[in-house]
Amino acid sequence: MPEPVLKVNNLTTRLHMEQQVIAIVDDLSFELHAGKTLALVGESGCGKSLTALSLMRILPHPPALPSTGEVIYQNRNLLTLSEKEMRKIRGGRIAMIFQDPTSALNPVYSIGEQLVEVAEMHLQLYGDDAMQRAINTLAEVGIPSPQERFFSYPHQLSGGMRQRVMIAMALMCEPDVLIADEPTTALDVTIQAQILDLIRALQKNRGMAVLLITHDMGIVAEMADDVIVMYAAQAVERGSALDTFDHMAHPYTQELFASRPAMQQAKTRLHTIKGSVPSPQNFPQGCRFNPRCPYVMPRCLEGAVPMFPIETKNHHTAKCWLHDKS
Ligand SMILES: Nc1ncnc2c1ncn2[C@@H]1O[C@H](COP(=O)(O)OP(=O)(O)OP(=O)(O)O)[C@@H](O)[C@H]1O
Ligand code: SF4
Ligand SMILES: [Mg+2]
Repeated sequence: MPEPVLKVNNLTTRLHMEQQVIAIVDDLSFELHAGKTLALVGESGCGKSLTALSLMRILPHPPALPSTGEVIYQNRNLLTLSEKEMRKIRGGRIAMIFQDPTSALNPVYSIGEQLVEVAEMHLQLYGDDAMQRAINTLAEVGIPSPQERFFSYPHQLSGGMRQRVMIAMALMCEPDVLIADEPTTALDVTIQAQILDLIRALQKNRGMAVLLITHDMGIVAEMADDVIVMYAAQAVERGSALDTFDHMAHPYTQELFASRPAMQQAKTRLHTIKGSVPSPQNFPQGCRFNPRCPYVMPRCLEGAVPMFPIETKNHHTAKCWLHDKS
């Protein structure tokens, strides 16, 4: 297997909360490879966005403490770079599509000014060249009349349009790594397909590596090479998309797939996972899924659960005692 573009080792982010210090991203490790997509899936509140924000080093300190572990890009640990060095990489070589477009766009500058700034900073394009690049990218993400939209301010655009501007900003530099947090959730189906095609084209032509955060199992099936299922700040199952879909090993993964909207339509009775994702202050002892698990056993109630290999499948693992063969 070729060297990964980005290698994450034991990424952990702790937060000060109600006089406790709690890991809101707990010991995550994964690799992103050129031209490949890793999907990060899990219910709302399981820590997906916090993982992305930790990688980009944009969580506010405090309340977050600086992340520990390693994020290796071009032989350097991004977690130890100065903010000045990080700024050269962030938004250029490693770009992010945020779940909330309003957090990524500055309301007081036109979208053209914001795109040109990115082109100047990361592509060393100036004047007409920068403007042309910005307009081309707006056209690529399906913004109608991009020459006119270039002069619009974020508030003059619809939510879906703002989302596309943010996607344009992330893709304009043709990054090595794209972190896409629910990139198309707010968009209608046609535009969604267009954006996913654009991401795939950049992957194919430029070898971009993608970390795709999504609730949409249809998108996972369509886009992902590998999958990490996350629950309560931890990875609970990981493997290739094929192996994971074929043989869902963790009870949480099984429940997550059974409760997805496409399955709901096929069934007469709604399937929902009982209970809810615990907040970080209330992570249960033992397996964090134990209050909701249909197979809970006494040993699930205390102590950390290791990741167990699944059958003979390569690199497919699950954090569940049901797979302990010892
Ligand atoms: N600044 C913060 N201070 C305290 N708790 C936070 C903060 N940000 C997030 N959390 C908590 O951390 C947990 C994980 O949040 P995160 O936003 O990463 O979830 P998510 O998996 O992205 O969910 P969604 O699918 O809804 O986007 C949640 O319980 C959330 O309430
Ligand atoms: S470790 Fe126990 S509680 Fe956790 S998912 Fe497996 S069986 Fe369920
Ligand atoms: Mg999120």
